[in-house]
Amino acid sequence: MNFDGSDYVVRFENVGLRYGLGPEVLQDVSFALAPASYHFLIGPSGAGKSSLLRLMYLAMKPSRGLISLFGRDMARTAREDLPGLRRRIGVVFQDYRLLNHLSAFDNVALPLRVAGGRERDIQKHVEELLSWVGLGDHMNASLPTLSGGQQQRVSIARAVITKPQLLLADEPTGNVDDRIALRLMHLFEELNKLGTTIVIATHNESLVKRLGHPRLRLDGGLLLGDPQSRRGRKGKGDEMLDGSRHMEAG
Ligand SMILES: Nc1ncnc2c1ncn2[C@@H]1O[C@H](COP(=O)(O)OP(=O)(O)O)[C@@H](O)[C@H]1O
Ligand SMILES: [Mg+2]
Repeated sequence: MNFDGSDYVVRFENVGLRYGLGPEVLQDVSFALAPASYHFLIGPSGAGKSSLLRLMYLAMKPSRGLISLFGRDMARTAREDLPGLRRRIGVVFQDYRLLNHLSAFDNVALPLRVAGGRERDIQKHVEELLSWVGLGDHMNASLPTLSGGQQQRVSIARAVITKPQLLLADEPTGNVDDRIALRLMHLFEELNKLGTTIVIATHNESLVKRLGHPRLRLDGGLLLGDPQSRRGRKGKGDEMLDGSRHMEAG
């Protein structure tokens, strides 16, 4: 497949990020994600994985470089257009960010209700999804009574329920055992088959190996793992990567 820049779901060109006056925690990061691609984002703690995801879900602006989402240059996108773009992105936050005063069911239903869905459809859809993630018996539980791993699954269900065009997940299986992790990964695969572009930051080496999706590897703020995405390239469109070319051996 051949994409010109506008056909990528996510495109970074020489992106740098610093917090305040600190050092750059991301340096010259360049990559592009084709529609319906699926990548793992890996690298040691502190490498910049969460920071990279924050840029992708528009929680932060880069200190330099170009970010385009859904074919739009974010630096030229009006502030009032951002909420509409964010609604196309599902995010699984590392710290869940659920609403504690709502039940598991209501947390997951919320994005559908906001979008104006019919309550009968919402009911069925949310129940199915919560059952799939193993929370069929906890739908009406209040959030604080759920374990970390259960809350993590609620947050995953909330992120995927709207079938977003782009799904970003920050260590989404950090608090569940391998069996449930694999089940959650299957959920992401199903979403991916429907056309969602997926990026999952994870430490879970065995899952990464087992599922074999291409990897974006960060180390010390640099994106490694594909010669074409290394620092110092100056060309324009020619360096844009089709996700599949990130594939590594092993
Ligand atoms: N809010 C913040 N303020 C200042 N520095 C931060 C902040 N968040 C992350 N960092 C720094 O940015 C670097 C990358 O962190 P992070 O993106 O959380 O990496 P990872 O998710 O790979 O562990 C680290 O050096 C971290 O200390
Ligand atoms: Mg992190």
